[in-house]
Amino acid sequence: MSYYVDEKGYYGEFGGAYIPEMLYPNTEELRQNYLEIMAAPSFKEEFHQLLKDYVGRPTPLYFAERLSNKYNTKIYLKREDLNHTGAHKVNNTIGQILMAKKLGKNRIIAETGAGQHGVATATVCALMGIECVVYMGEVDIARQAPNVARMKMLGAEVRPALSGSRTLKDATNEAIRDWINNPVDTHYIIGSVVGPHPYPDMVARFQSVISEEIKAQLLEKEGRKNPDYVVACVGGGSNAAGAYYHFLDTPEVGIIAVEAAGKGIHSGESAATSALGKVGIIHGSKTLLMQTPDGQITEPYSISAGLDYPGVGPLHAHLFKSGRGEFISITDDEAMTAGLTLCQLEGIIPAIESSHGLAILEQRKFKSDDIVVMNLSGRGDKDLQNYIDYFKL
Ligand SMILES: Cc1ncc(COP(=O)(O)O)c(C=O)c1O
Repeated sequence: MSYYVDEKGYYGEFGGAYIPEMLYPNTEELRQNYLEIMAAPSFKEEFHQLLKDYVGRPTPLYFAERLSNKYNTKIYLKREDLNHTGAHKVNNTIGQILMAKKLGKNRIIAETGAGQHGVATATVCALMGIECVVYMGEVDIARQAPNVARMKMLGAEVRPALSGSRTLKDATNEAIRDWINNPVDTHYIIGSVVGPHPYPDMVARFQSVISEEIKAQLLEKEGRKNPDYVVACVGGGSNAAGAYYHFLDTPEVGIIAVEAAGKGIHSGESAATSALGKVGIIHGSKTLLMQTPDGQITEPYSISAGLDYPGVGPLHAHLFKSGRGEFISITDDEAMTAGLTLCQLEGIIPAIESSHGLAILEQRKFKSDDIVVMNLSGRGDKDLQNYIDYFKL
């Protein structure tokens, strides 16, 4: 069984491009060109040069000794939090802004939840001198205020999404609406491995630099390329897709995906898609999503804006359905506690999204000689107010 996308844009039964006719020319233009553009030596060179000199890659693979001692296993942290702009999102936006330029686009739109993707998009637009509009749910605008200010400073216009739960799903709806109205000059930089084909594959390829580096760094540190497990949190699934990418067809490497259980899987306030989702279509992709018995999308909830999404990318739906991936759900409380533990044991303040990944260490036991790579997708600066409120600091 393959875990990579097929020619029609499917991962097993999931994926495809379920889009309104008006969007067909946009996605078709991208589908026909993306692989060729990405394979061109000049594109690769510019992408990797920017990742190195502008983003600061490779990010370290850090052996977390005190955390390892606490949980009696060998834990490495892949430090995506050290990227310019504070998370993995910038790997993808660097790739997509270069793609947009190759396609001759002069206006960029994006959606954002935690604001990390919005900041990463505003950043590359400033870098290239291209107009940028970011859609963001009104609720997320309130809980991620520092990132809203950063986007504005970088010259982007932040447009609030006022419908539904006023979070990531609704921001995505608004961005798609904009793209339908501006099909010729605008490129939509989707921020995760979601959306119609070829987005999930294109974004996974840009993020795959994470697992490419893990392999080389582990070889240097441990004399072997493959860890026993790779762990990542899953909102739409882009940091996870990047961390898993080069291990997907290596069954000895366990893949662990961590979702947000919010106030509890069955509390009615959760974003645990694998536990609660059924097959359906969201934002142009056939995947697992949380829905009512008559197929209306359920409003998700998580303390973490980046994980507050009612679906997962089609790759992750396939990893779940096929059993290749192990899926674990973590509550708000478990994530916040794990975030504080990392601060106090390693001196690293993680994004709340990343704290969900760390929290599995309390419940998922590993052998003492297992090598567990945790993808630390982002830093906690944007979440400071949430941490302050939660711990009454
Ligand atoms: C730090 C961080 N981690 C994880 C995510 C979740 O996104 P994804 O599942 O695409 O990696 C986000 C989204 O905003 C984020 O900011």
